[in-house]
Amino acid sequence: MSPRSVDPAVALVAERASASVDLTTLAARARGCLACPELADARTTVVVGDFPPGARLMLVGEAPGAQEDLTGRPFVGKAGQLLDDLLAEVGIDRTATAVANVLKCRPPGNRPPTAAETKRCRGWLHRQVELVDPALVVTLGGTALSWALGGGTRLRDARHTVHDWRGRRLLTTYHPSAAIRFGPNGEPLAALRSDLRTAAGLL
Ligand code: URA
Repeated sequence: MSPRSVDPAVALVAERASASVDLTTLAARARGCLACPELADARTTVVVGDFPPGARLMLVGEAPGAQEDLTGRPFVGKAGQLLDDLLAEVGIDRTATAVANVLKCRPPGNRPPTAAETKRCRGWLHRQVELVDPALVVTLGGTALSWALGGGTRLRDARHTVHDWRGRRLLTTYHPSAAIRFGPNGEPLAALRSDLRTAAGLL
């Protein structure tokens, strides 16, 4: 599909998502989503997200990895373990935190999401944010940053600002995978820890 042509799957997902009156209805619809044929063919599960009732914080990552695809839950692999540790360290209860991804299906081989996939899946996530209605959204990594603030936004410019996003507060930070990649003395881990501490202070 050329970048200028209209992708009917984008409108279809947006329509089905916005007509979902609650998270359970949305989850059932997302689980049957066939908007991205390559992802639908390859997935084991659709990782819709974790939505504890009354969550005041919503974390948004990139896409499910292998463990998430197998279990159907977001951030349960290595990156999720680090995220859990950091959340506990700053006093955020993960079991009371909503967690979702820009893509609900694992890209084969953990390749990055394509622009077309991100666009198609966006309707589900936007409606999830509306239905959760969190006080604060925190994006993890570049894909989630672009989803929220648009491509071309650099993390180093967007960090340290509490953004007013669709009438709610939004912070942007590194993805835990970057923190793992750059190691214990790398900038991403220190930044992620510090930004989650900021998030805890805003709740
Ligand atoms: N990385 C993500 O962005 N999301 C997950 O759920 C797991 C790893």
